[in-house]
Amino acid sequence: MGDDSANHGHDNASHGHSHDHSHDHSHSHDHSHSHDHGGHGGHRFDEGDDVHEETLHFHKIVKAFSQYKNSAMYANHRRRTDFYSLPERQQKMLPAYLERMEKVDEAIEANYEIIKIICEDQQIFVNDELVKLDMNDRARNAAALRVREQDMEKVQGTIKQFVRDWSEGGKPEREAIYHPMVQELKARFSDVPVQERGKLNVLVPGSGLGRLAFDIAHEGFSCQGNEFSYYMLLASNFILNKTQSVNQFKIYPYIHSFSNIVKPNDVLTSAMIPDVNPSEIPRGADFSMVAGDFIEVYGMEEENFGKWDAVVTCFFIDTAKNIVDYLETIHKILKKGGVWINAGKPRNLKER
Ligand SMILES: C[S@@+](CC[C@H](N)C(=O)[O-])C[C@H]1O[C@@H](n2cnc3c(N)ncnc32)[C@H](O)[C@@H]1O
Repeated sequence: MGDDSANHGHDNASHGHSHDHSHDHSHSHDHSHSHDHGGHGGHRFDEGDDVHEETLHFHKIVKAFSQYKNSAMYANHRRRTDFYSLPERQQKMLPAYLERMEKVDEAIEANYEIIKIICEDQQIFVNDELVKLDMNDRARNAAALRVREQDMEKVQGTIKQFVRDWSEGGKPEREAIYHPMVQELKARFSDVPVQERGKLNVLVPGSGLGRLAFDIAHEGFSCQGNEFSYYMLLASNFILNKTQSVNQFKIYPYIHSFSNIVKPNDVLTSAMIPDVNPSEIPRGADFSMVAGDFIEVYGMEEENFGKWDAVVTCFFIDTAKNIVDYLETIHKILKKGGVWINAGKPRNLKER
């Protein structure tokens, strides 16, 4: 997982600046570290290779998003070429094929319109001064900026992930996973009146596209999501801060693979996002997202020790290289009597 991470395996100082995108309903989406290793917004390339490397890494991911259209169109173009390479007799057996390819082109365009918005707020994630790499920087760092097949797959995977977290179609899965966790949280703090839940601090490490964290904040708790993947951070910033109404955007999550489909036109199935208005957070509840590695952001800064009333993890524990580090950190940052609510068990524990 580390490949797309916001700290890239070293000091995550380059996220030391904080942008607070407040909505009317005390909803802030703060893509910053909760700590600051070196001053807000004051990093320069020559302050350390790690900052430079991280900036490059961020740029590579933005580049991957930016190349989405070309890459997806190229894949579709190849499908057409394959079609034309068939004997005419066989082409006639697939009368709707080319028309479907036209629709896939249009769907790629529609997805790309959203990706353009996703890439708009780059200054939130890297220092303003470093957002733009000049030509020399690009030339020098061409290798680090090279977008690979797996980077494009992550862009496509991010688009797909919107379905589970932020569309009506994802509801059954959310009901099965997120709902019981939120219910458990409410039950554990049932002695706190609903209007006072904002005083309770809940942390969701590995928050992905932010839906679980949103659902918790929506119930009135103050909730912070933490995430280290720039794919997730850019996409969650889009959904949480750049959508204003229910079903505002149409995405086509399934156009990138023609395998494992029942009917040919299934690839063109669309989804509307978001299924809720993400700015609808009750007054008194803080909602924020913090970029960076869970252990580094929370486990190493005293201000986080004993701060959290609850830590809620969903399919996060199995991302640990060393699960004991995760458990120790959770234990350290929970208040005395605080609760850890988890869904998803560690995989491959034996191997690790
Ligand atoms: C399997 S996904 C689950 C995401 C989300 N909780 C869900 O249920 O959809 C695990 C998430 O944790 C993030 N992650 C992994 N290790 C992390 C770390 N050390 N610090 C912060 N986020 C991390 C990954 O980027 C990924 O988004």
